[in-house]
Amino acid sequence: MSRPPVRVALVGCGAIAELGHAPAILALPDDAVVSAVVDLAPARRDLLGEALSIVPSRRYGTVDALLADDEPVDLAVVVLPPERTPVVVERLLRGGVRVLCEKPMSIGADEAARLAGLAPRDRLGLVHNYLHRSDVRQAMQHLRTAELGRIRFLRLEQADSGHFPGAGVSPHWRRHNTGGGCLTDNAYHWVYVARELTGSPVVQVTARLARPDATSAVDIAMVLLDHENGALTSVQTAWCAPRAQRVLEVHAEHGSLRLEGDCGPCEVFPAAGPTQAQPVEPSYTGLYREVLAAVRAGEPFAAPADTCVDVLAVLQAAELSARQGRTVPVVPAGAA
Ligand SMILES: NC(=O)c1ccc[n+]([C@@H]2O[C@H](COP(=O)([O-])OP(=O)(O)OC[C@H]3O[C@@H](n4cnc5c(N)ncnc54)[C@H](O)[C@@H]3O)[C@@H](O)[C@H]2O)c1
Repeated sequence: MSRPPVRVALVGCGAIAELGHAPAILALPDDAVVSAVVDLAPARRDLLGEALSIVPSRRYGTVDALLADDEPVDLAVVVLPPERTPVVVERLLRGGVRVLCEKPMSIGADEAARLAGLAPRDRLGLVHNYLHRSDVRQAMQHLRTAELGRIRFLRLEQADSGHFPGAGVSPHWRRHNTGGGCLTDNAYHWVYVARELTGSPVVQVTARLARPDATSAVDIAMVLLDHENGALTSVQTAWCAPRAQRVLEVHAEHGSLRLEGDCGPCEVFPAAGPTQAQPVEPSYTGLYREVLAAVRAGEPFAAPADTCVDVLAVLQAAELSARQGRTVPVVPAGAA
């Protein structure tokens, strides 16, 4: 007998909930149905409520109101600014609700480690959607099958003209000086991608960060990662580069890979024959396809919360490196 669709509560109806999460869930109608939306901003919860056909009585202002309702929810998807995320994740987990949380789960690694300790693996997962990008997936496949030899050098360099614009009660939270700026918002993704592509943890970090003025968030992050296996990764992100070229490359002993973006290919040099045609879907759809299958089977889903803790520890090392002008070892959360 086929299982009923997963009943999802969308907690946070801001920009990426509208552009990433809602379309992905709507693309998988047999697997999931959004049964409730939550947002402090009435206009946002009504916008997403209409798009997802949620009756007005199931559009809530807070998670407390959601939890007070008797209607069952199988999965809460938390899509909030990072500084507002921990209290909501904790409330949901303590209320017995399984949580899929947008990255990062908090600003700091210690707080993320505390949250990770609140739930077993099949109750809490992280959105590390870049691992579901077509180019990243193809790169992983090439690294497994093509005989490229030892990975030496990754360039994960994507500078943008500005930040991803938010919506709702605090649309400019990315520019607040307390949030990590483009280091936490964008470099975060490339740290877990580098970890996956190299198959090796980051052991030390050398970084330079810049901000437009003393009161604004970091808008240039240049970060060099030393992996345990000797590979080096250059991560560059910025919010002040109107015409930057994206450079996403993996260089190994016997060849190189070039990644061409979400829904794009990964080219291999020297060419290893025609690339296999793969179904191409946005990273969020691929992520949800896997998450919903796992949730329906009662299995662990999405990225383990511990991987978020590890990325935040690397980003903290980057901040310390930039402050002190030296290479800094990555210290696991709680060990400092
Ligand atoms: N994985 C990715 O590729 C990706 C892309 C964009 C954003 N994100 C992440 O998604 C999260 C949201 O980003 P965004 O750009 O959509 O932000 P946003 O500001 O557009 O949306 C946040 C929404 O949450 C609402 N809100 C704030 N506090 C709340 C609370 N306590 N209870 C209920 N609602 C509350 C706001 O009104 C707003 O509508 C961030 O953590 C960001 O890092 C991830």
